[in-house]
Amino acid sequence: MDSLHQVMDITNESIGVTTGRAFCGVVGHRDRHEYTVIGRKVNMAARLMVNYPGTLSCDDDTYRSGKSKLKKEDFMVLPFIKLKGVADPGTVREYNNHHDREEEEEYDYPILGRGKEIEEMKMLLHAIKCDDTRVSGSRRVVVIEGEGGVGKTRLLEAFMDIAEEEDFKVDYVEADMAHAHTPYHVVKTLIENLLELEACRTASEKENTLMEHITDQKLREKMFLLNDLLGTHIPPNADFARMDLDKVTTQFHALLFEIVHQFVVSQPCLFTVDNAQFIDQESWDFIEDLSADSHAILVLSLRPFSSSNPPCEAAIRLTGHETTKKVKLGGLEASYMSDLACQFMDVMYIPNELDGILREKSHGIASWCEQLIKDMLTSNVIQVVNESQAFLNKESSLDLLSFGGSTTTAISLCQNRKKINFFFLLFGESLKVVFTDL
Ligand SMILES: Nc1ncnc2c1ncn2[C@@H]1O[C@H](COP(=O)(O)OP(=O)(O)OP(=O)(O)O)[C@@H](O)[C@H]1O
Ligand SMILES: [Mg+2]
Repeated sequence: MDSLHQVMDITNESIGVTTGRAFCGVVGHRDRHEYTVIGRKVNMAARLMVNYPGTLSCDDDTYRSGKSKLKKEDFMVLPFIKLKGVADPGTVREYNNHHDREEEEEYDYPILGRGKEIEEMKMLLHAIKCDDTRVSGSRRVVVIEGEGGVGKTRLLEAFMDIAEEEDFKVDYVEADMAHAHTPYHVVKTLIENLLELEACRTASEKENTLMEHITDQKLREKMFLLNDLLGTHIPPNADFARMDLDKVTTQFHALLFEIVHQFVVSQPCLFTVDNAQFIDQESWDFIEDLSADSHAILVLSLRPFSSSNPPCEAAIRLTGHETTKKVKLGGLEASYMSDLACQFMDVMYIPNELDGILREKSHGIASWCEQLIKDMLTSNVIQVVNESQAFLNKESSLDLLSFGGSTTTAISLCQNRKKINFFFLLFGESLKVVFTDL
């Protein structure tokens, strides 16, 4: 859209993106035929453009397709508009990766209800840093396991924050379904992060950066083994021609191990892999090797493996190992739902009715709570309003609840259902409030 703006005659632009089946080909009479694309989703894309002008909008299938590398937080749910000829448009979102987020006052909300897990992680990291093997033992692999949306990624983020506070270098990789069978995909990202190769645009830039990081002559001689992984063109040594595939693989693993080892002895590192159920088999093999390094700490978060996505042997051995610490993550206690809702909406208060609904319907699963709120906002069951609007009704009584265990929040008004129920919202300059008419 920025580029379009620069074209002088274009003043308004809209982009609608949908995902689904479409027919594409040459259509029409021989004299007038033209190449075209037709289908339900094509019509919907056109409707999105008309109904959400000046916006890059997309349908729910596009948002959920998983193929996109766009960040989910750059998508905002758009208000529901009836689209002509589209029976159920689902949730429509706007993509905007340079909205005013930086200018907004960002507030890091505290993680809710995971005090025990956080405390244990703090102790483990601290013990590792102080080399206190009585606490840390050989327990250097932590596996967070839980059902979809229960809060694994959020807990992983909290662990990474703690690690950074303790001066650990944090190496984070998000495995994804699209690369679950791409050999060494996760290892590649781990190594690139560790050696800061992401910024290198050419093979020779990568080679130079590698040389800066790896000073040991013995390792340097074998660096050609990284060529396939990193796309470098380091000339192989004379032994290479005589090596069979097994030997190449063994030496490649040994080299990767050594590189990581050199790093972790000089600076404590926390390696984290989110969505570890999608780690490719070759990466599991390497991660298993790495777990034997007493200096590396690995935290993996995963959904339980399913029969359609069974774990490989290395994954079974590592996750089931007696020294692996398993964190089985269950849903949040119902009492956290109102605080969670306040965080999702950046508000200070929610009414009791909403709290009741979220407690009952979300079963403690954070993402269900999030989805319920989004749906209610989209369908205008609840609304965000400002403070003055919230206090229009002076007869309303306040019922204070606690929020996040720290600041005051969650007020609920609604003794009488007919009266205004509101959420008191905190964000930006002013206080905002949510009305609801459930
Ligand atoms: N304990 C918590 N405190 C505050 N917010 C949370 C907590 N747990 C989860 N959330 C929020 O709920 C939403 C879903 O959580 P999250 O993405 O961590 O789930 P997940 O288990 O990683 O899901 P998936 O299986 O899809 O990867 C996120 O917006 C997250 O920030
Ligand atoms: Mg997750």
